[in-house]
Amino acid sequence: MPRYILLVGPPGAGKGTQAKRLCQALGLLHVSSGDLFREHLKNQTELGKLAQSHIDRGELVPDDVTIAMVRERLQQEDAAAGAILDGFPRTLAQAKALDGLLEELGGGVDAVVNIQVSMTALVRRLTGRWMCRQAGHIYHQEFNPPRKPGVCDIDGSELYRRSDDTEQTVAKRFQVYLEQTAPLIKHYRSKGVVIDVNGEQKIGAVTAAVLDVLPGDVSP
Ligand code: AP5
Repeated sequence: MPRYILLVGPPGAGKGTQAKRLCQALGLLHVSSGDLFREHLKNQTELGKLAQSHIDRGELVPDDVTIAMVRERLQQEDAAAGAILDGFPRTLAQAKALDGLLEELGGGVDAVVNIQVSMTALVRRLTGRWMCRQAGHIYHQEFNPPRKPGVCDIDGSELYRRSDDTEQTVAKRFQVYLEQTAPLIKHYRSKGVVIDVNGEQKIGAVTAAVLDVLPGDVSP
């Protein structure tokens, strides 16, 4: 039976960072709606162009477009064992669509990891973040620096700053999170699947805290 784990938390909580580590530990596919949009953007597809205007304003991309994109990804062969969903769902409409889709795929939501971080820490994290062009590997100039400035340790590609990581857009993204995404936690809490994690620990300690509840094999 496929296994599906959701990662929720405000922008900069560490969802992408933890998703990569947890996928390695649990042998699941990483599906990030933000990364899928950025891939479309890089390839200048119609979907990418539509998403860009929303992303740069710090707003959500419309539900119908987002749901269709994630549906298509989860139906691919490499997602047969399940996935760690990072940044999806983000609205109640997306959560309901996901329930229906997972039922079709023979699974359900196994766990929702709720990564909790204060607003002050989030701004510091996002304004210091660097990402690699090739595969979206994530760094931070202070908390997780690359060995060579500006170059990805893993694939050697150039590091860049995301256009939505300005202080002003981060504030808007945080507001959108509180209004549209935070209510999802209540929705999933009523189903008894939420795992609360203190996201203000070191990166490895956050992973270990999640794996305490969701066992897997990982080298720290
Ligand atoms: P998305 O890419 O999903 O952005 P986000 O949710 O705002 O989250 P981030 O990627 O900014 O942060 P993160 O939690 O992954 O943190 P990270 O691990 O990088 O979405 C972007 C946009 O796309 C949205 O605004 C929206 O427009 C659109 N979109 C996406 N999904 C959508 C959906 N479902 N519906 C509609 N629209 C959608 O870490 C951040 C930094 O902190 C890094 O530098 C990292 O090195 C550092 N760090 C991580 N953990 C720690 C730690 N424990 N200690 C110290 N530093 C740490």
